[in-house]
Amino acid sequence: MRFRNGSRGSTLAVRLGLAAAVSIGLVGCGSQAATSSPAGPSLSPSVAPTATLAPTATPVPVNLKDISGTRYFGTAVNDRLLGSDAEFTKLLNAQFSQVTAENAMKWGPLEPTQGNIDWTAADALVASAQANGQKVRGHTLVWHSQLPTFISDGHLTKAQLNDTVKAHIEAEMGRYKGKIYAWDVVNEAFNDDGTMRQSVFETTLGDGYIADAFRWAHAADPAAKLYINDYDTDDINPKSDGLYALVKKLKADGVPIDGVGFQAHLDLENNPPAKMAENLQRFAALGVEVAITELDVRLATPSTPDKLKTQADYYKLVVEACVSTPACVGITVWGISDRDSWVPMTFPGKGDADLYDASFKTKPAYDAVVQALEAAAK
Ligand code: XIL
Repeated sequence: MRFRNGSRGSTLAVRLGLAAAVSIGLVGCGSQAATSSPAGPSLSPSVAPTATLAPTATPVPVNLKDISGTRYFGTAVNDRLLGSDAEFTKLLNAQFSQVTAENAMKWGPLEPTQGNIDWTAADALVASAQANGQKVRGHTLVWHSQLPTFISDGHLTKAQLNDTVKAHIEAEMGRYKGKIYAWDVVNEAFNDDGTMRQSVFETTLGDGYIADAFRWAHAADPAAKLYINDYDTDDINPKSDGLYALVKKLKADGVPIDGVGFQAHLDLENNPPAKMAENLQRFAALGVEVAITELDVRLATPSTPDKLKTQADYYKLVVEACVSTPACVGITVWGISDRDSWVPMTFPGKGDADLYDASFKTKPAYDAVVQALEAAAK
């Protein structure tokens, strides 16, 4: 149920009682039928409340950002859509209290050739976030992927790469100093077996590149929360064990790391991360905050009602893991609608991973997220 009474915040069905809810069409209609507004569900005129409702029972759409309590609820933002796609932009600002640049703050898109930095898209995102009261997660400073060729081709010496990474961190964090809540300083540093990924940074600079990056980042913006972020570390497994050991060591060594991001790019063909809450809590016990940073749940297309229901269960599990962990500061989904998701391009045959379908209608996953957030708020 996604309608709430504006004055009390209870669900409208609960407030009216089941019979009244049925009489105005809130119960028994399919999920899609009740959810036609791009900015969230709203009552259609044909089922508008009548005199049977108390005067205070003006239904209002539920927005994710309004029901997530002290946590933010955010999304990745595709810079091609921001401002130019009205439906996307309206939904973005109605539903979400945090944004992450899907690509615009990555090294390659930002500085395709050395010294030629184009800040246009990143600036626009930060300005939009400020205008709409949204936190920004900076993503990402040191990552093996989407690098400019002058870094990825491996021709720089250890000293040169060291200086170039430091200058990159200083330039990007310096530009947005005070405007970014948290930075993914290092992204995807691990292999599936928990060993270090042999990226150009690891092979040229050695293990110490991670601690160095965090120290430079802290100097560049001492107020920003500094994160390490990865995928397939959502459950307790060899990869998350490797990450856990590293974070423990960084903390013991006094490295300024503040948080661990769990991407949560899930796939219905894999088991859900059953121990995610336990996993988040073991990291939190190291003295860091944690966040769900890139949540989506892909499936083999075409979707079916059964798949969408299972997808909703995966979303629910992740949201519940976060809201049951005091150190979990927020949840970010990786895009708003199935129309714009990165999934079909990256995983052929997979898709429909988001909370909204390609027509910007909410899916069962959206309802499940609302339920999990509302249950946590009680
Ligand atoms: C993805 C973007 O969504 C795509 O548009 C781009 O082509 C590739 O990168 N992990 C991350 C994100 O940390 O930056 C990735 O984003 C998805 C996986």
